[in-house]
Amino acid sequence: MENKLNIAIYPGSFDPITNGHLDIISRSSKLFDKVIIGISKSSNSKDYLFSDEERLQLASNSTKHIDNVEPIVFDGLLVDFALKNNINVIIRGLRAFSDFESEFQMSLMNRKLNSEITTIFMMPHEKYTHISSSIVKEVFSLEGDISDYVSDPVLKALNLKYEK
Ligand code: PNS
Repeated sequence: MENKLNIAIYPGSFDPITNGHLDIISRSSKLFDKVIIGISKSSNSKDYLFSDEERLQLASNSTKHIDNVEPIVFDGLLVDFALKNNINVIIRGLRAFSDFESEFQMSLMNRKLNSEITTIFMMPHEKYTHISSSIVKEVFSLEGDISDYVSDPVLKALNLKYEK
């Protein structure tokens, strides 16, 4: 049998990483030899609350307990980064039917760009299907309780960002 490592990438903005993301990361870490958390580098076209370095640190501090997970910041086309780093699987989370359309487009485009790389979809625990980084930030900024939805490092970072 071929002795090849199965490396997957879980790409996203992670602005910031939520417990929904962490649920998918934990599930994928049991299925693959290595899981790269691919944090998309900021560009002029997208405004992030946290810098590249902050999003990387938060992903790293929130996944310290999982050995085979490595967060990185990537730039350019996801499939190009995957090809250069021997990654053959892209993992995306699907929370609800509304996610499907854009995910479908993205996975087919990625497959057109590189047919060797397969996208697989995973569903997070149902307690996270209604959350996103955007909702977490909005609720937090309006003084709502989001402690069930983010790790301690993320909660601290949000407090610092909004100076609470
Ligand atoms: O968390 P998000 O914002 O849904 O993540 C989107 C992300 C970063 C996965 C997507 O925009 C992406 O892959 N960007 C890298 C550039 C790229 O390859 N674009 C073509 C995708 S079809």
